Amino acid sequence: MAALISPDHSEFPPHPRLKLGVMASGSGSNFEAIAQSIQDGHLNAEIQVVIYNNPDAKVVDRAQRFNVPAVLLNHREFGSREELDQAIVTSLKNYQVDWVVMAGWMRIVTPVLINAFPNRILNIHPSLLPSFKGNRAEVDSGKIIIQAAVPILEGDTVEALQNRIHAQEHQIYPAAIAIAAIQTQH
Ligand code: GAR
Repeated sequence: MAALISPDHSEFPPHPRLKLGVMASGSGSNFEAIAQSIQDGHLNAEIQVVIYNNPDAKVVDRAQRFNVPAVLLNHREFGSREELDQAIVTSLKNYQVDWVVMAGWMRIVTPVLINAFPNRILNIHPSLLPSFKGNRAEVDSGKIIIQAAVPILEGDTVEALQNRIHAQEHQIYPAAIAIAAIQTQH
C-alpha cells in the first residue's frame, strides 16, 4: 500500500482567487467538500456554477445549500458528446469560470471542452493512476496533482470502501485545486 496522504490545511499554498465551475453527475460530496473548504477560508475561490447532467443528481440540493447556481445539461438531449461539451463550455464561459473542476463527472469529455480551458481542468478518479484508469485508453490521463491510497479490508462492502475513498478525496481535492493553480503560474 502506498503511503496515505492526509494534508492538513497548511497544504493550501497561497494562490490567487479562483473562479471555479464544478461539473458533477451524482451525489456531489466532493462539490460540498470544495464549497466547505472555501467557506472555511482554506481555498481562496468562488464556485460560479455547478453543471450537472442527471436531473435527479443530489448535487443540486448541495448547490442550493451553498447558494451556488446549478445548470442542468442533460446528455440525453444532445446528439453527440461534442454538442454536450459545447453547451457546457458556453455555460461555463457565461458564468466567467476560469477553472473547471470535474467532481464525479461520469461522461467522457472531448477536445471541445479540453481546448476551451487549456491546463485549467481538474478531474478526480477513485482508483490510483496511472495504473487503474477508466476502461478507455484516452481517459484519466494528464498530470497527477495529489494521490491518496486506502486499504481494502477483508469483508469490505462496496459502500464501506467508497466511504473510505470519499474521506480521502474530500481532504485532498480542495488542496489539489490550490496546488494546481500555483503550478500553472510557473
Ligand atoms: C468520487 O469517488 C470520484 O472519485 C468518482 O466519483 C465519485 C463522485 O462522488 N469519479 C469518477 O468516477 C470519475 N470518472 P461525489 O458525487 O459524492 O463527489
